[in-house]
Amino acid sequence: MELTNCGLLLMFSVFLDLTLCEPTTTPECPIQIQPDTVVVRYGDPASANCTVSEDHTGIGWEASEGSVDREQDVQFITWTFENLTDWEIQPKCYGNFMIYGQCEKELKVIMYKTPDSVSISAVNHTGPMLEGKQYQLQCEVQNIAPVRYLTVKWYKGETLEDQTTYDALTKTPVNVPSTLLITPTSADDGAQYSCVAELDLGPQPYPAAKSEPLTITVHYPPIFTSSNVETLEVTEGEGVPLDCCAQGNPPPEYSWTTPQNQDQTTNCTLTTSTSLSPGTHIYTCSASNYLGNQTKKFTVEVIPIVDYLPLIAGIVAIAVVIISAIFIFIYSIYYKNTRMGQYDLKGGKSNAQNGNVAQNGKDSSLPMKKLTQPCGHV
Ligand SMILES: *[C@@H]1O[C@H](CO)[C@@H](O)[C@H](O)[C@H]1NC(C)=O
Ligand SMILES: *[C@@H]1O[C@H](CO)[C@@H](O)[C@H](O)[C@H]1NC(C)=O
Ligand SMILES: *[C@@H]1O[C@H](CO)[C@@H](O)[C@H](O)[C@H]1NC(C)=O
Ligand SMILES: *[C@@H]1O[C@H](CO)[C@@H](O)[C@H](O)[C@H]1NC(C)=O
Ligand SMILES: *[C@@H]1O[C@H](CO)[C@@H](O)[C@H](O)[C@H]1NC(C)=O
Repeated sequence: MELTNCGLLLMFSVFLDLTLCEPTTTPECPIQIQPDTVVVRYGDPASANCTVSEDHTGIGWEASEGSVDREQDVQFITWTFENLTDWEIQPKCYGNFMIYGQCEKELKVIMYKTPDSVSISAVNHTGPMLEGKQYQLQCEVQNIAPVRYLTVKWYKGETLEDQTTYDALTKTPVNVPSTLLITPTSADDGAQYSCVAELDLGPQPYPAAKSEPLTITVHYPPIFTSSNVETLEVTEGEGVPLDCCAQGNPPPEYSWTTPQNQDQTTNCTLTTSTSLSPGTHIYTCSASNYLGNQTKKFTVEVIPIVDYLPLIAGIVAIAVVIISAIFIFIYSIYYKNTRMGQYDLKGGKSNAQNGNVAQNGKDSSLPMKKLTQPCGHV
């Protein structure tokens, strides 16, 4: 089983480390180091145990700092140091055994140092940035070790933008620059860039140091958030508000051209004049800053007020005339019918002039009046 595993391992690690397979080819050195790796901050204390489970004729630690002379009749010896400052330290535990002879094992020491400072700046640039141009940001990590475990992460706000790692095997502290190229857009105005130097040292939380944020200012020409052509309707005698407000940095300045050229406002909003005559009127507005300008055109349709009073009066007058005509017409028909009816119903008693003729003398005292007032007596 072990051999098979080793075969596989060999295939994958042939370029890396052939000693992986030593255990199966030569007897293993019966020394155990616990822990096998020490991660220690520069100047902090460190210790490790060297333990043997077999008979030996002496074990000891060999190191540039904290060596322990060979001892017999012990199961373990401890390498310890109060204040570890040797970047190149490589402690080894050695032992002499009846069966294996002398062998040794090394303690892996990873000594690290968090940076003295992490700072961010724009390279060869001060002041506002221009939209669409490229700029270089630099993060300077001062005095950090070991650089092979360092990752420099770039953030815009909370968003990770980029990260850099380093292959250098230098164990001692170095200054590490990292750069980021940015091409800001208008949306980046006020964005905060920061960089973080992080030491990836294993399972424990990584020591990290973060720079102060660099807030960038982006200058950009005015832009309208909505269309730059608008058509509005307004009733004669009323005003309608026009909105020409644009985004831009520096904040745009506004100028208006109006039908009457009376509105000399420099505001981005304007209410149309209430004295516009019915018809179409054009208002234009220009939003400008040193990077450019934008024009917005408003077409204002003024709808005339319809005066209903004369119309109503006219309709009423016409109605009166029509109703009167109908009434007169109906009455005239009725009157005709009534007159004919008098003949039918009252016959000789009628007061018509014919009657007078027919009556023969009774009313002969009033002969001519009856002619002019035919209905008077009914
Ligand atoms: C070494 O072993 C001793 C005894 O077992 C123990 O007290 C000590 O914590 C160990 N030290 C380390 C670094 O493991
Ligand atoms: C550790 O060593 C350094 C340099 O030798 C020294 O400056 C520091 O004070 C020491 N720290 C302790 C806790 O002994
Ligand atoms: C920054 O300016 C200096 C001198 O003015 C120049 O030597 C350097 O190359 C510039 N760096 C970049 C990234 O433009
Ligand atoms: C311009 O706008 C400001 C506020 O933004 C307002 O106080 C002022 O009255 C406006 N001026 C005109 C002429 O509308
Ligand atoms: C707007 O820009 C044009 C060129 O693009 C320029 O001719 C004009 O003078 C500018 N107007 C203002 C008000 O800045």
